[in-house]
Amino acid sequence: MKKVLILTGGGDCPGLNAVIRAVVKCATREGWQAYGSIEAYHGLLKQPYEVIPLTNHDVRGIHFRGGTIIGTTNKGDPFRYPVQQEDGQWVETDRSGEVLKAITDLGINAVISVGGDGSQRISKKFHDLGVPVIGVPKTIDNDLAATDQTFGYQTAVQTATEALDRLVTTASSHHRTMILEVMGRDAGWIAIQSAIAGGAEVCLIPEIPYDIGVVIKSLETRYEKGRGFANIVIAEGAKPIGGTQVGRKSTEAGYGHVHLGGVAYQLADELKAGGFKADIRVNVLGHTQRGGVPLAFDRVLATLFGVKAFELARDGRFGRMVSLRGKQIVDVSLEEATSGQNLVNPASFLVQAARDIGICMGDA
Ligand code: F6P
Repeated sequence: MKKVLILTGGGDCPGLNAVIRAVVKCATREGWQAYGSIEAYHGLLKQPYEVIPLTNHDVRGIHFRGGTIIGTTNKGDPFRYPVQQEDGQWVETDRSGEVLKAITDLGINAVISVGGDGSQRISKKFHDLGVPVIGVPKTIDNDLAATDQTFGYQTAVQTATEALDRLVTTASSHHRTMILEVMGRDAGWIAIQSAIAGGAEVCLIPEIPYDIGVVIKSLETRYEKGRGFANIVIAEGAKPIGGTQVGRKSTEAGYGHVHLGGVAYQLADELKAGGFKADIRVNVLGHTQRGGVPLAFDRVLATLFGVKAFELARDGRFGRMVSLRGKQIVDVSLEEATSGQNLVNPASFLVQAARDIGICMGDA
């Protein structure tokens, strides 16, 4: 019996379970046995291996559950695995050879790795070493190259929009300016989509460094017109012109990023320092955008990705990542998938439309 191994890596997002369910159902129908590796490659680096068989029974009813039933980690790159030394120091060690051995030991015929840009890069390295791997793109940030959208993103946009809807009523009651910080490390997709959907007055994204003077002027103009409240959406990765992103260095071994967060507080200080008079309140939405029930759109996209990924596995078409192009589910090379990022284009119609309906993007 052929075996397909599924793993979910990197930050979670709504829809992961729908991919797992789709792969397991397709594999079972075609007479394959599906397995899940616990917490991405961790499962293959443990002794005994933490790899569990997955049957249709195991995936029953999981399509609307957030998170992932097989766990995930963003600290488990086998090529740079954090290993604690006797003196307490953590040293990055290449443990990819152990993963190759585990795949051989377990007789795995195909690996389906669901993850963001970091996971796709790991998949590409394993594919170059001969592992039969297929990538499935996920992230709420929607910043992956070579796919129009990742699943999880639309659910995050909805969560951010609902937060904005709630802020409008309290902002108007108190004539306040509300700042909503949403996720988006390098890409402002969640910010701009929720700003448009939620009717924000200002939207600040990583792709367009902001001029605090411009932001203050646009807010003051609005207050002068008598509309005594305002909503600002800011992506966690946004920064002022000439400034840097706001975050904390991570103390977690193997975590390759800075913990972004807090730019909304910085913005509030800058507004006050610039003489802006209205009361300001800050709301950092954080991981609520990553959790919870996936929207129908994300469940469907995740399912289509899972079905396509299994098809590629069955047909022996490895080194590919499934992708949404227009309305089609296609596949692209892992090379193309890891070639760059999908960022908001400041010259796009999306940004123009935001400006045309009066949203200040911080630069004009
Ligand atoms: O992957 C998307 C993302 O949600 C980023 O926007 C955010 O900075 C990051 O994950 C946080 O990840 P974690 O808290 O899991 O390390």
